[in-house]
Amino acid sequence: MFMNIRQSLLLVVVFGGRLGMATEFPDVAALPSRPELPDPLVMLDGTKVTTAEDWVARRRPELKQLFQHYMYGFLPPKPQKMVVEQVLFTDDRFLDGKATISESRLAFFGPDLKHRLHVMLVVPNKRSGPVPVFVAMNFCGNHAIANHPQIHVPESWVYKSCGGSVNDHATEAGRGTQAGDWNLDLIIDRGYGFACFCSGEIDPDTPEFSDGIEPAFYAPGQTSPKGDDPGTIATWAWGFHRVVDFLLVQQSQPIDEKRIISIGHSRNGKTALLAAAMDERIGLAIPHQAGCGGTAPDRVPLDSKKVETIERINTHFPHWFCDNFPLFNRVPEKLPFDQHCLIALCAPRPVLLSNAVEDQWANPDGQFEMLKAADPVYRLLGVGGLGATEQPELQKLVNSRLGYYIRPGRHSMTREDWGAFLDFADKQLGNP
Ligand code: GCU
Repeated sequence: MFMNIRQSLLLVVVFGGRLGMATEFPDVAALPSRPELPDPLVMLDGTKVTTAEDWVARRRPELKQLFQHYMYGFLPPKPQKMVVEQVLFTDDRFLDGKATISESRLAFFGPDLKHRLHVMLVVPNKRSGPVPVFVAMNFCGNHAIANHPQIHVPESWVYKSCGGSVNDHATEAGRGTQAGDWNLDLIIDRGYGFACFCSGEIDPDTPEFSDGIEPAFYAPGQTSPKGDDPGTIATWAWGFHRVVDFLLVQQSQPIDEKRIISIGHSRNGKTALLAAAMDERIGLAIPHQAGCGGTAPDRVPLDSKKVETIERINTHFPHWFCDNFPLFNRVPEKLPFDQHCLIALCAPRPVLLSNAVEDQWANPDGQFEMLKAADPVYRLLGVGGLGATEQPELQKLVNSRLGYYIRPGRHSMTREDWGAFLDFADKQLGNP
């Protein structure tokens, strides 16, 4: 039914259940100081985790709660109902006839959100079965990613730095301006699909939440977030999850539900990792140059100028994390986890950390240490972890379940990066 164009209320999905809420955790002052990396295989109460069953039943849920309580805030619950209001268009002649592109508009109820989410989906026309699909959050709108005249120009806030941005809003002039970052032709040639959405449609990257979806989830009478209410990154991760919901219910394109890959660059990479850590439907995560608050350690010297500290990130981007997180600004050693635990939450699923030499702000060396420290969890689950003890040479992909890649150059996403992403996905999930 979903193939027909311009039908409204094409698909209504009713979800059951809400996410579990936090158990009680100590105040920051009562947490022990742990300058060393916390052992991912030791529970908060000191109990050692020695079996895969204990990891899955006890430690993994505990870590999910800890990250949400102290750092990101609790992701908003899945709304009770999602409606595919409209398939805006479908074009099977995209990329010289190699791909079919479409865009759908999603609405959410229970709570009723005024926000609408536009999901662009591109799949290869030549395929032998269901296609693995990258799910990405973008900065500037779907129309910036693919140069196609019918893609919706978002009405929401976008960054000033986006091509064609006027008064913090996207315009026609932005069409295709980020196509060079996303390399859809390469993705399609290699047999993958690609879905994306724009972060501003969920929550504009501004220091307050009135323009995002957050207030819709507040308790009656609540006007501002409490300590572990979601920051913007948690809310964006919710957006990834809604796109996964959509991919799994839509019938028009053959998606391989075991091979859904979350990907994002920088702040969007932090989000892509959190989304995968919190949702096992995501089969692989590529947080590209994600750095502090994502893939790089929280435990770095407080006065570091070279790599970003949590104090810097909480000062410059006070809305990214929950209000509990800045309490650790001067005492990161009190955090009951570090970012290796977020990576470990993805186990046994593959994770690739990719970096650039000139992007020291994102702490590429520290990120490699995070992989090493996540490795024991992968081993406990009986899958290989990180297949290297030292950082690889430049442009040499460590293509193990925990992967690492670093190239010369700066903070950006390039065609070469995509070559590494696709090689990683081919090996870790199977070549489509
Ligand atoms: C800033 C910020 C980083 C972030 C980056 C980005 O540099 O300090 O944490 O990753 O912006 O999102 O581009």
